[in-house]
Amino acid sequence: MRSENPEKHVRNGENLSHQHTPQEQGRIVEIDGKDIANVELMEPLRPVNDLLYKTARYLFTSGKFTVNAPFKGFLLYGPVGTGKTEIVKQVTRRLAYEMQDKASVRLIPVDSAVIASPRWGESEQVFNEIFAHVKELRRQVDNPKVVVLFDDIESLMLARGMSAAREWHYSLNSVLFHLVDNMNPSETMIFATTNRLDLMDIAIKTRLYSVEVPAVPMETLMKAAQGLLDSMLGQNQEEEKKMVLKDVETRLRAVEHPNIRDTRQFAIMSCIENGVLSG
Ligand SMILES: Nc1ncnc2c1ncn2[C@@H]1O[C@H](COP(=O)(O)OP(=O)(O)O)[C@@H](O)[C@H]1O
Ligand SMILES: [Mg+2]
Repeated sequence: MRSENPEKHVRNGENLSHQHTPQEQGRIVEIDGKDIANVELMEPLRPVNDLLYKTARYLFTSGKFTVNAPFKGFLLYGPVGTGKTEIVKQVTRRLAYEMQDKASVRLIPVDSAVIASPRWGESEQVFNEIFAHVKELRRQVDNPKVVVLFDDIESLMLARGMSAAREWHYSLNSVLFHLVDNMNPSETMIFATTNRLDLMDIAIKTRLYSVEVPAVPMETLMKAAQGLLDSMLGQNQEEEKKMVLKDVETRLRAVEHPNIRDTRQFAIMSCIENGVLSG
């Protein structure tokens, strides 16, 4: 018997990957793609979003590539705060809505830093749990399609120092890559993110297709700031908006590689510091 209800550990919301602790009973968090909040991605990110969406959709629906697929997912790389994690969420959301008549699309976010923590015990076990969870899900919902997000995957390496990492990496490799090699991307895909492409070894790079997430140009960041201010301030506050925008631009120019996160933070803080918010 199939049930509509997913799992008792299932919780909805954002950023859940940062909330679970080793003490928790259920270590695997699973999110219904339709519950992911919609974020309008900025222009430079849209081609990446489209590429990932189209590929995942093709692999999920065509059935042409199963365990023999030449890659099992994507490795998104690029500077911090460019929207790598957000793209994965938005692609999952889009898949969930576009495929809702025929499939249940789920996101399993995995915080790589948490897996790397010694308190998590054998990391191998965690990977096994993830794949066991996916297997179980298949018994519970009709036609599940799963995106496993390994966020900031470089922390798997960095948390242990390079020499320890290497040793640990070998033992992990044998388990993880065995699991990945047996993975069927017409049902489950891996999306990994990193800002340290240099730390990724060939074993990862051959199993996941690498896609660069570009840094967003200043002009686009300023447009985003403008949009955010339009949503925060009234139409009668054009003067204030101009003043805050100028301030945001000055602050962004002082940052080496300004990103969308900086932009949003500066816009909000500048409004507060300049006393232009009402309510
Ligand atoms: N195109 C976008 N428009 C608005 N907010 C965005 C956009 N891309 C990312 N964000 C937000 O900016 C922050 C940083 O994005 P994130 O995906 O965490 O970056 P990364 O994973 O590359 O470090 C997040 O709060 C995210 O929701
Ligand atoms: Mg991220």
